[in-house]
Amino acid sequence: MFALSILANPSPASFSHAMADAAHRVLSDRGYRIAFHDLYAEGFDPVQRTGESGNNRSDDALIERHCAELASADLILIFHPNWWGQPPAIMKGWIDRVFRLDTAYGYPPGVSYQGVPVGLLKARHALVFNTSNTPAQREAEAFGDPLEAIWKRCVFGLCGVDSVIRRMVGPVSGSEERQRAQWLAQVAEDVAAVA
Ligand SMILES: Cc1cc2nc3c(=O)[nH]c(=O)nc-3n(C[C@H](O)[C@H](O)[C@H](O)COP(=O)(O)O)c2cc1C
Repeated sequence: MFALSILANPSPASFSHAMADAAHRVLSDRGYRIAFHDLYAEGFDPVQRTGESGNNRSDDALIERHCAELASADLILIFHPNWWGQPPAIMKGWIDRVFRLDTAYGYPPGVSYQGVPVGLLKARHALVFNTSNTPAQREAEAFGDPLEAIWKRCVFGLCGVDSVIRRMVGPVSGSEERQRAQWLAQVAEDVAAVA
């Protein structure tokens, strides 16, 4: 089995990194092959320079590799902090460039770009792990928890992955070691549930 794991956090000491490590340990124990991309470490270029109709191929070999991995992954894992209710821009650019036409979604014959696309991804499960400094209840009540809709509906739902487990842990700032260990145990449990 093959897992694609994407991390967007500029700080190697971040809790996002710790969560990715915990998830990878479970996958390795279960014999998964893992393609792991730390987008900042990789220097990923997040700028999508063509519109939708030109966005089904790229001259950039790294983009082709990411797209091939996305299309063939059995399981997709995402790690990033909550930045203004959104993913960091580097992750947004990864979505723009890699969840592309004819890789992640497509239009059946006779359906135009105004129509409803179909999802093309093979993965049956996605896991999204976010860090935040806002308690979950306030994030939902004050801001509507935009990351929930972005990942579950706008991205994975549209691309055919209906099973999305999403956790937003926090407040991370000032959190105690015991609490962090509990969060990492939850990550491992979530991965084990679908791996
Ligand atoms: C540009 C930026 C925007 C942020 N926006 C939010 C926000 O909207 N809500 C929030 O709770 N925390 C926000 N934060 C705080 C981060 O979510 C927090 O530092 C992070 O989750 C800590 O976890 P980490 O160790 O994985 O980086 C923001 C941080 C930065 C740098």
